[in-house]
Amino acid sequence: DDSTDTETRSPVVTVMGHVDHGKTSLLDALRHANVVSGEAGGITQHIGAYQVTSPETGKKITFIDTPGHAAFTAMRARGAKVTDIVVLVVAADDGVMPQTVEAINHAKAAGVPIIVAINKIDKPDAKPERVRTELLQHEVQVESFGGEVVDVEVSAKNKTNLDKLLEMIALQAEILDLKTNSERPAEGTVIEAKLDRGRGPVATVLVQRGTLRVGDIIVAGAEMGRVRALISDQGETVQEAGPSVPVEVLGFNGPPEAGDRLAVVENEARARQVTSYRAHQKRENAAASISG
Ligand code: GTP
Ligand code: NA
Ligand code: MG
Repeated sequence: DDSTDTETRSPVVTVMGHVDHGKTSLLDALRHANVVSGEAGGITQHIGAYQVTSPETGKKITFIDTPGHAAFTAMRARGAKVTDIVVLVVAADDGVMPQTVEAINHAKAAGVPIIVAINKIDKPDAKPERVRTELLQHEVQVESFGGEVVDVEVSAKNKTNLDKLLEMIALQAEILDLKTNSERPAEGTVIEAKLDRGRGPVATVLVQRGTLRVGDIIVAGAEMGRVRALISDQGETVQEAGPSVPVEVLGFNGPPEAGDRLAVVENEARARQVTSYRAHQKRENAAASISG
C-alpha cells in the first residue's frame, strides 16, 4: 500500500482445508453454482477464483479455492501475497486432519487471519465441539473457548449459515481496512496459468492495484504479451478488471508461472527488456540447480 491507496477494496479469501472437507462445495453454495459435479472425481485440479456478492450488503468478496496447499506454498515461497483472510474448512464428522494443520501453519506463517468454517454439520455424526477442541491443540482458539478466532457452523449441502459466514468475512475485512488505487496501471499476481489448445497461453490473474485493460502491454515473470481478451469468473468477456478482481488473461506469448507478478508497462520495448533479463536469470538458475 502507499498514500495513493485510498479506495476500499474487496477482501481476497483463500479457502483451505483437508481433502474432501468441502471447500469447493462451500464455494459452490456461496455462488449458487455447481463446480464440484463438473470436476473429475470431485477433486479440485486447479485454483478457481470467484467473486461472491453478499445478498445482505451487496459487498463483494473474492474467493480462491485451492486444490491442496502446494499452490499456496509455491506462491508464498515466491513472495506473492494474495490472501487477506483464510477460511479454514473443517468437516465436523472428520475433524482436524493433517492438511488442516498444514493450512493453519500456512496461515500463521503468512500472518493472515483465520475464520473457521465447521462444515457438514448436517451429518448425524457431526461433532463441532470436538473440532473446536482439536483446533485448540493447534493453537487456534475460537471465541467460545476464550480466543479471538471466529468459527461458523455451516453446511454446504443444506446451505446453512452461509450468510453468517459472509458476514463474518465482511467484518474481518472491515477490521483489516483494505485499501487500493484503481486509477493506475494494473499490478497483480498470477494465480494459475496454462497453455490452452484453442486459446493459447491463459493466465488467471488477481488484479491487486490499478485497472487491467484490453490492449495493455503486460509482463509476468519471464513472459510478456498484449491483453487480447479478459474473461470474468462468470465466463464473460470484459473490457477491464480492477482491484481484487480475478480475471483470465489472454494474450501472453507463453504461460507465466503461479506467483509471478503481473505488471503493465509502457511499451513492447520495455516489456522485452524486462522479460529477457528475467528469462536469462531463469536459465541461469536452472543451470545452477542442475549442476549443483
Ligand atoms: P478437494 O478439493 O478434493 O480437497 O475437496 P473439497 O474440500 O473441495 O471437497 P468437496 O467440495 O469436493 O466435497 C467433498 C465431498 O463432501 C463431496 O462428496 C461433497 O458432496 C461432500 N460435502 C461437502 N459439503 C458437505 C456438507 O455440508 N454436508 C454433507 N453431508 N456433505 C458435504
Ligand atoms: Na473433493
Ligand atoms: Mg475442491
